[in-house]
Amino acid sequence: MAKVLYITGNPKSDETSMSLSVGAEFLKAYRKQNPNDEVIQLDLYKDYIPLIDAEVFSGWGRLSENQELLEGEQKKVYQINSLVDQFVEVDKYIFVTPMWNLSVPPMVRAYVDCIMMAGKTFRYTEAGPEGLLKGKKAVHIQARGGFYSEGPGSEIEMGDKYLRAILNFMGVENVQSVIIEGHAFDPSKAPEIKNNAIDQAINVANEF
Ligand SMILES: Cc1cc2nc3c(=O)[nH]c(=O)nc-3n(C[C@H](O)[C@H](O)[C@H](O)COP(=O)(O)O)c2cc1C
Repeated sequence: MAKVLYITGNPKSDETSMSLSVGAEFLKAYRKQNPNDEVIQLDLYKDYIPLIDAEVFSGWGRLSENQELLEGEQKKVYQINSLVDQFVEVDKYIFVTPMWNLSVPPMVRAYVDCIMMAGKTFRYTEAGPEGLLKGKKAVHIQARGGFYSEGPGSEIEMGDKYLRAILNFMGVENVQSVIIEGHAFDPSKAPEIKNNAIDQAINVANEF
């Protein structure tokens, strides 16, 4: 029985979001194929994702000196620890994001700042950094208004590339992408673009 983390980084509802609606179809297919797996949902716009701020830094400083944390520091530092522990504990990751300004929304960045933790998800060795999450797999489902998979757009796309680089850095080498793109460019094609992405998502889910 595998543990799966379904991570969504979008304030919209499933019905109004291309990526979330394709993500929901992916999850439905995955659950059908793997009824005994445990799926944990993490909504980066509803669940508590602390920003790395002055209180977090002072909390980490206090911890390194074996001092007790103040209340505000404790809340943030403990939540960061629990997010990274949850990330380490699961076997598979499903990230669902919209493209915002060529990249991912800020809460996805904030989450990455929580889970990239030396000693837990990667470590430093004499030969350089080493990912500690080897053997795990991930899929990234992303919706984009324009086209970025090919042509000049592919060079400036920084959302899928970023998540891939972060996952690879932590040792997750098996990363697939399901991209929904171009519906803002030609809204009349939006239903077709979405249906094709759902077909692709179901195929990936069946093998995931
Ligand atoms: C804040 C913001 C920034 C966006 N930036 C881009 C962009 O850089 N390139 C693009 O093609 N579309 C951009 N879009 C359009 C979204 O990528 C597009 O609407 C996509 O469907 C969003 O995913 P969703 O439907 O799952 O919310 C942006 C939308 C918002 C709200």
